[in-house]
Formats: sequence, C-alpha cells, structure tokens
Amino acid sequence: MTGKDKIADLKATAEQMVAIGKGILAADESSGTIEKKFAKVGIACTEDSRRAYRELFFTTPGIGKYISGVILYDETIRQSASNGEKFVTILENTGVLPGIKVDQGLKEMEGSPNEKVTKGLEGLPERLKEYAGMGARFAKWRAVITIGDGLPTDSNIKQNVGILAEYARACQDAGIVPIVEPEVLMDGSHDISACRDASEMTLSAVFDALRSADVAIDGMILKTNMVIPAKECPKQATPEEIAEATLGLFRKVLPKELVGQAFLSGGQSELEATANLNAINKRGPFPWKMSFSYGRALQNSALKAWNGKAENVKSAQEIFIHRAEMNGLATMGKYSKDMEEE
Ligand code: 13P
Repeated sequence: MTGKDKIADLKATAEQMVAIGKGILAADESSGTIEKKFAKVGIACTEDSRRAYRELFFTTPGIGKYISGVILYDETIRQSASNGEKFVTILENTGVLPGIKVDQGLKEMEGSPNEKVTKGLEGLPERLKEYAGMGARFAKWRAVITIGDGLPTDSNIKQNVGILAEYARACQDAGIVPIVEPEVLMDGSHDISACRDASEMTLSAVFDALRSADVAIDGMILKTNMVIPAKECPKQATPEEIAEATLGLFRKVLPKELVGQAFLSGGQSELEATANLNAINKRGPFPWKMSFSYGRALQNSALKAWNGKAENVKSAQEIFIHRAEMNGLATMGKYSKDMEEE
C-alpha cells in the first residue's frame, strides 16, 4: 500500500468514528479505575465482574445505531462474553469499530509535582502491531493539563504534546487511527476564561507538534474538553455560553482538514454532557464533525441500575441505549430536554 492509500484508509475510519448521529463509547477504564467505580456501588471487582460489566454495554440491542466505536482496555480486548464469543467479534458484528487505550496512565512530572505526564511510549510500536492483529482500528492516548497557581507550565504542555505526537505517528505507521486526547481538567474552581486560555495554549501546541511529527491531520480524531468552568467555580455557565466559548476557540485553532473532534465528558453530568454537545451542534455546520467519546456520561446511570446483578442487565441496557440515542441526537443539534424519561 502506498502512503497515500494508507492515509485514505485512516481517513475513512476516522469518518466512520464521527459519523453523523453517532459517537464513541469510552469503555477503557483501567482495572484500578473500575475498582473505584464498583466500590462506590458495592460491586466486587473481579475479572468476571469486569467482564459482565463490559458485556452489558457491548451486547445492548441496537448499540450500532448510535455508537460508532468502543475504546477497549488491554484486558477487555482479550476477553470474551459469557457465550464464549470475543468482545471484538461481537462489536464488529454490530458494525461498531473496536479501539484500544494504549497509554499506560499518568506520572508526576519531574520538577513540577502538581502536573502529570503520560506514560506508555516504551514498546508502543510492538503493542500497536499486536492490537491491530486483534482487530483494533483506532487507539486512544490521554494527556492531562492541570489549571492551578502558575499552572499549566509551558514545559508540561511541551512534554505532553511531544509525547502525543510521537504516539499519533506510531499509530498511523501501524495503520491505526489515533485519538489524540489532551484534556484540560475540570478540577478546582477556575473560571471559563482560565479553561479557554489553557485549552488554547494546549491545542495550538498539539497541532504544532503533530505537524512537526508528520502526522496526517486528516487521519486522526481529536478528543478534547469543552471550554467550561471548573466543577467548583462559583460562576457556572449555560450550554449556550459553553458552546460559544468552545467554538470561538475551535475556529481559531482547529485545522480545517481535521475530520472530527469527539468530546470527553470530564466530570460533567450525563444531562449536561448531552445538552452542551447539542448546543454546540446547533451552531453548525463546521468544517469538522462534533461528536462524543464519553465514558462516565454514557455509563454512570447504567452502572448504578445494574448494580452487579444479572436480573438488572436489561434495565441497565435500556438506560445506556437511551443516553447513546440522546447523544446521537445531540451530534445533530436535535436533542431537547423533554426527550428525557421521567
Ligand atoms: P469521560 O467521558 O468519563 O471523561 O471519559 C472519557 C475518556 O475516555 C477519558 O480519557
């Protein structure tokens, strides 16, 4: 395959990932994160309970209607459902693209202990090759940027975007679409303009680094935060204000050739994440698709309803597919709050 054909393939996959009316389910929580989530609702965290949890989502009837792809975790991409069928095969059979988280979590940054850098570049090309052989069509790498006193530092942004670019390049070399995820955290009490400033510095640096590493911008998906006040900011914002601020920034920094941007939910409630995405898409069309790649905002209520019990699977699946449908509508600006069930 020529380089040109390879990019065309990556672009076709990227377009599928952000197809209109659909988005991505981020089901790639590490076993440690799942353990914390399960502990909150009193579910024991074992390989089997984690398998049952993933199976609930992946076997939800109609998932392929609203979900274009699922980000898996290393354990999950190797697992099978209770009927013995590989999760990857189950997803492929419903038209859902399997993806894989390839970063290996965060570590404290040297010289700035309140900031983090992402681990996992070592051995990455070999792991990508293995995952591609298992059916992974795209990958994810998350970098976090912290707002605080004197933060983010330029050196934290520089390190994180350099690593993101190296990861993205390795993915494209392996024929896998990289989801490039720089997340400005919602932790703390900063206001919307602090989020905008940090997001602008980060995204500008991300695209500079990607270009320097010769990453094909039309063969990747961006996954970033909305421009939004921190969780404890006394002045919260309306969906319209969030949409205005986010789009103002995106128009300035996102390249036109980018196929799509899939938001993370980052600590927004399920309803906020849907309403904000809808407000953004109401202002479209844009040069890029505006989709979702939610973890918590697609799974939290379903997890509570499931509560680790087989008899609750069906009602949990109904809750999940409803959220997926609402977010699918929000990718078209066609969602309204009165579509929520009581
Ligand atoms: P949230 O939507 O819960 O923020 O998760 C998305 C994700 O994949 C973070 O890396």
